[in-house]
Amino acid sequence: MTIGTGPRGPGVLVIEPMGNAGRFLVEAADRLGLRLYAATHKEVHDAYPDRLRSALAGVCATDLTDTPRALADMEAFCRSHAVAGVAVCFELFTPLAALLAERVGLPGNDPRLARAARNKILMGEAFSAAGVPAPRWAVARDAAEARRVAESGGLGRPLVVKPAEQGGSWGVSVVDDPDGAAGRGGGSGAGRGGVVGCGPGRPDGSGPLAAAVAVAQRFTHAQPHGLELDTTALLQEYVPGAEYSCDTVVAGGVAYPLPVVRKDTTRGRYRIETGHTCPSGLDPELVRTVQHTAARAALAVGVRNGIAHTELKIPPGTRTPYVIETGARLPGDNLCEVVEAATGVSEAVAYLQAVLGRVPDTVATASAAASIRFLLPEHGGVLRHASIPEAPGTHGELHLRPGDPVPEPADSACRIGHVLARAATAHLARALAAGVVARSRVEVG
Ligand SMILES: Nc1ncnc2c1ncn2[C@@H]1O[C@H](COP(=O)(O)OP(=O)(O)OP(=O)(O)O)[C@@H](O)[C@H]1O
Ligand SMILES: [Mg+2]
Repeated sequence: MTIGTGPRGPGVLVIEPMGNAGRFLVEAADRLGLRLYAATHKEVHDAYPDRLRSALAGVCATDLTDTPRALADMEAFCRSHAVAGVAVCFELFTPLAALLAERVGLPGNDPRLARAARNKILMGEAFSAAGVPAPRWAVARDAAEARRVAESGGLGRPLVVKPAEQGGSWGVSVVDDPDGAAGRGGGSGAGRGGVVGCGPGRPDGSGPLAAAVAVAQRFTHAQPHGLELDTTALLQEYVPGAEYSCDTVVAGGVAYPLPVVRKDTTRGRYRIETGHTCPSGLDPELVRTVQHTAARAALAVGVRNGIAHTELKIPPGTRTPYVIETGARLPGDNLCEVVEAATGVSEAVAYLQAVLGRVPDTVATASAAASIRFLLPEHGGVLRHASIPEAPGTHGELHLRPGDPVPEPADSACRIGHVLARAATAHLARALAAGVVARSRVEVG
């Protein structure tokens, strides 16, 4: 079914443009003079913000959870609308995008590897096969299997427990904190350095590890599409150190590295991103090492014509980045805006160029800095009040309105808003954004 009829001409079909990166794709398509089409569910399209709906030249309404049907509907749409490229905003649909591009004969990613960019078990295998430095891992189908893995000691302590398929830090727990405060904690820990004390589990199967496995396994379907998820839990060795992200555009199999960004998270059991800063503060040689490792990760999961968002940690005292994960999609968290403010590079433009088979524009045209900081609640409840003061060089945005429920601070769904600051240096941008966040008022009842 086709909703809306845009003018005929070359365009890009975006599999689910809803989400953080969608608005940057809309702006980028405008700059490049492209028509943007969406493939989505009718009821998801009905809930699009007006801004997104009016930017689209047309919509392919299908069922993205039914691969054969979605591919048939999208292929017919691509042919009748002279679609010249396939893009994707949701990580879970990146394998579908690779299959569609192959079927229609458009530039895309390797469909044989594409599931590794969605499923962290396959990703672990792909990283091992390609020799990409990454944490050691094991599969845990239930708490008893997790206990056996923990008792074997093969992954050391602490352990990271996470869902095989999910994003936004949902269901990710760090069990047994490196501070060695085992037995003390139990709180959510967001922003408070909370620690979950734990042995690997009690004989009755309760205890923090079993609880973490249950949390990782609770997502059976991803909303709003109802896509079925692999509920296997993954146990990983904990990689200490500072965290970074680095995106890679790949066009015709050639990797073009993008700037490295420093990432800050909460400590303790739940690791929620508290902010991102570009440039990263790393020395130029280490920046190149991070970019090289991120590019290897992207290629390992079959990215050939597209973009990958890779997260890495560098253990203290080393210069070896370990890849925590990579996704064959644009970054979330307004990172497109942060990177462009700091370097002049539009990741969304580069991505669209890559999916059209063009050489991506990745040369920096600025050397400034930008930082985004998120407003996180101390606890869940209902938002009573939230306000962000104005300050030169910054802008703020609230994600929730008074009366909205505020989830417990266990994953990125709890964010109340953000502040983005631009300045001459990373240090200044970070301090500016942090200062505005500190003066913001959040009341959760
Ligand atoms: N093996 C690990 N060692 C150390 N920290 C880790 C490890 N795995 C995950 N983390 C921490 O937990 C965070 C979330 O984990 P991960 O990125 O795997 O989940 P996600 O849900 O895909 O995240 P998101 O979509 O928010 O990027 C990471 O950014 C990192 O801070
Ligand atoms: Mg992540």
